[in-house]
Amino acid sequence: MQNFIEISDVSKTYWSEDGKTETKVVLPLSMTIAEGEMVMFLGPSGCGKTTLMRIIGGLETQDHGEIHLQGERLAGPDRRRGMVFQSYSSFPWLSVRDNIKFGTRYRKDISAQEKEEVTDHYMNMVGLTRYADFYTNRISGGMRQRVAIARTLASSPKVLLMDEPFGALDAQTREYLQLQLMDINAREKKTTVFVTHDVEEAILLASRIVIFSSRPARIVKEIRVDDLIPPESRRDGSLDMETFMALRADILKIIRAEYAHTLEDT
Ligand SMILES: Nc1ncnc2c1ncn2[C@@H]1O[C@H](COP(=O)(O)OP(=O)(O)OP(=O)(O)O)[C@@H](O)[C@H]1O
Ligand SMILES: [Mg+2]
Repeated sequence: MQNFIEISDVSKTYWSEDGKTETKVVLPLSMTIAEGEMVMFLGPSGCGKTTLMRIIGGLETQDHGEIHLQGERLAGPDRRRGMVFQSYSSFPWLSVRDNIKFGTRYRKDISAQEKEEVTDHYMNMVGLTRYADFYTNRISGGMRQRVAIARTLASSPKVLLMDEPFGALDAQTREYLQLQLMDINAREKKTTVFVTHDVEEAILLASRIVIFSSRPARIVKEIRVDDLIPPESRRDGSLDMETFMALRADILKIIRAEYAHTLEDT
């Protein structure tokens, strides 16, 4: 079977402005992602997760290696990959509703009427219907992040790239959106790559967890969570807590060991 996303020997090095010092951020790294998978990236701060996501999204160019989407080599960004960034991104000159509607702008698979419905659907999903007419410089940071999430979902990309999308949200909103994303994933089987620092979030959402080393990023461990904790049990809360806690402890141990390397380097 053809891999949906194929990352082959991708590497990236940043050079200082004077060109004298190099920072290797991503080692030659290879991985494949199947259609419908929800892959969670975990790893120490500064290891290169955002860089790798930006490369997958076509926003950054790798030095070597290739990325294929459905067998086609990717060069530069396009609308097949929708990205939610670590920090808030919205258009302050547009209302909440128009920001979200912007996501539907280039969709050819739905009518103008359906674009309105999709906009309302995701605006409601992220709990912002009451703020539909507010400009986004008049709402809180967490609300702006929800706008960005809704806009990306409304654009219905083939691949959803989410870089700590819930990092800045309060605990209740975060939990609510995690559940929404689990539902979307179960319903639409949207191929998703998701970066988080939250181990519990990773276990709840993942079909697979990929743990990276300290910089330069290499894969230290991959865990197929679906094989350990059935996704339905995570959605309805009936999961086996002992398995969950054991897995959490295992992952934390690996990350702590990698984090220790990060401290040694600085
Ligand atoms: N444009 C750039 N120019 C030079 N160095 C960069 C650039 N972008 C990132 N870096 C460096 O690359 C390394 C990896 O950064 P990256 O943002 O990918 O890490 P991360 O894993 O996403 O970290 P975090 O978990 O804190 O978000 C860091 O050391 C960072 O300083
Ligand atoms: Mg990052």
